[in-house]
Amino acid sequence: MDKTSIHGMWSSRLMFILAATGSAVGLGNIWRFPYMTSDNGGGAFVLVYLGCILLVGLPILMAEILIGRHGRVSPINTLRGLARDSGVSRHWVAIGWIGIVAGILILSFYSVVAGWTLHYTFLYLKQLAGGAAITDPGATFAALLGDPLELTFWHALFMLLTVAVVALGVEKGLERAVRFLMPALFVLLLMLVVYGMTTGFMGQAAAFLFKPDWSVISGGTFLSAMGQAFFTLSLGMCTMMTYGAYLPREGVSIGRVGIAVALTDTSVALLAGLAIFPVVLSFGIDPAGGGPGLIFTSLPLAFESMPFGIVYGLAFFGLLAVAAWTSSISLLEPATAFLVEKYGVASRKRAALGIAGLSWLLGLLSVLSLNLWSEARILDRDIMTFIEFIANDLMLPLGGLLIALFAGWALNRTILREQLSDMPEALFTAWRWLMRVVAPALVLIVLARAVL
Ligand code: TRP
Repeated sequence: MDKTSIHGMWSSRLMFILAATGSAVGLGNIWRFPYMTSDNGGGAFVLVYLGCILLVGLPILMAEILIGRHGRVSPINTLRGLARDSGVSRHWVAIGWIGIVAGILILSFYSVVAGWTLHYTFLYLKQLAGGAAITDPGATFAALLGDPLELTFWHALFMLLTVAVVALGVEKGLERAVRFLMPALFVLLLMLVVYGMTTGFMGQAAAFLFKPDWSVISGGTFLSAMGQAFFTLSLGMCTMMTYGAYLPREGVSIGRVGIAVALTDTSVALLAGLAIFPVVLSFGIDPAGGGPGLIFTSLPLAFESMPFGIVYGLAFFGLLAVAAWTSSISLLEPATAFLVEKYGVASRKRAALGIAGLSWLLGLLSVLSLNLWSEARILDRDIMTFIEFIANDLMLPLGGLLIALFAGWALNRTILREQLSDMPEALFTAWRWLMRVVAPALVLIVLARAVL
């Protein structure tokens, strides 16, 4: 008999796909992917990233969903139960703890950046009401980063929006938020790609994105690509495991939903690249080394000069804020679910608020590293970049590595086969060896090359 989760269940397969894509598609695709590509020299980075998605990301995505759906509780308790049933060490529970810590760290800076998108949404709203145009996007962006109070305000607002959804729980909160807005974002991106074609720079943009120049690649590039693959698919911190716990068994193929989520996520990232780089090039900006401000300093140039640009700008940053919202709730949900299991269902609101409060406080470090503390360096990085590095590039791949090993070696074949029942035998065997050897080896090599 299949169990159900005390946190509620997705009402359908489609709802799960929407929620999981809502989690995957976010700032990682539209803010981070373009500037990481820009900073890492273009095509070669993209190719390594795509390789990571295919050989490491997608198989681990399936493993997370599978483990979650088998356990039906929050990651820590799921891992505890599974380790006990399989007669393996209870230290595997560490995966769940890494996940909770990584989630709090990621949410801290994620909310700050999502705050930027709220601020820009507001700027375009004001413009629509007759306010001043953004004539010098570089200056507008610098002014925002230079103002700790402004940043803190939007950071707080975004965090409150996140808590509101998570406090309401799966059916009332998460589902409603994702139903319409994800498709709208996709359409808007397509429209921006079409605009990119009219600039005459699409060919050059595509060459930058897809023509690898291997001379600019280093050990650090591989680590960034691997970190980005984990980040963009929401892997390595048990988010997908948590969402998997609410996924019905009947007629839902984990292989298929995994592919759907990974494909959508990757297409959105590539579309974002194809939307942004033509604009960058057509305004004579160097596509390399754009940094975290890339979309905020380039896209407004296009919005000011295209017909109905202000409406586009409003829609773009508004929908990006929503995409970030459906992702941030998935960063908060695993830890919240864990506290709910510990303290009872009535505590969901307090649990969400407590974790988010902690994350908000930590986020102030990122806020300050953009202005008052911008000179501070940890391991050659400013504070925000350092937190991002620890969480995205180290903790997520490490969590993913352990999840792969757990699924590959600790769980018995019967459990795996039961969850992946519709998968053809050959594919199943291939998946299992990816989990046992290939994915862990790739992650290890990448981590070792960068750290040693
Ligand atoms: N994937 C999201 C994005 O691309 C961010 C995110 C949500 C995430 N949940 C996560 C990243 C869990 C890592 C782990 O914006």
